[in-house]
Amino acid sequence: MISGKMTKAINEQINKELYSSYLYLAMSAQAEALGLKGFANWFKVQAAEENEHAMKFFDYLGEQGARVKLAAIDQPPVEFKSPKAMFEETLKHEKTVTASINALADLALAEKDHATGSFLRWFVDEQVEEEANAQEIVDWLKLAGEAGNALLFLDSKLRARKAE
Ligand code: FEO
Repeated sequence: MISGKMTKAINEQINKELYSSYLYLAMSAQAEALGLKGFANWFKVQAAEENEHAMKFFDYLGEQGARVKLAAIDQPPVEFKSPKAMFEETLKHEKTVTASINALADLALAEKDHATGSFLRWFVDEQVEEEANAQEIVDWLKLAGEAGNALLFLDSKLRARKAE
């Protein structure tokens, strides 16, 4: 059985993961409106992954006999300045999620909650990948600059992303 404090923190993390899903879905909608179907696909797959992250925490609370309490999900922005701004926001957002996962891992350590510490290891590794993926695309977009053909090339690359 996990502590009340840990249960509360994981419930907050469920909300953060669901907000992440919402945020990337908002980005997908804008990319679709811009005709960038590859970008739209990438963000849609990302949104589905975030939903899976929320479900991992959801299931973990259930396994621990702790109660899931769902809270309202904030509204994400409707407009993003550019495709580059979307990925810069993605990177910034993933860094806040990493900090949040690290805070959970710190709490598990402080509470000598080895089960939760072990469960969180997957998320610690996942965040390294999430940040690296976003950083790589920010770098590509910086290189592409204003060049429309480079953007379309990147769009075709992002179209290839599939749900894992
Ligand atoms: Fe669930 Fe992108 O962190």
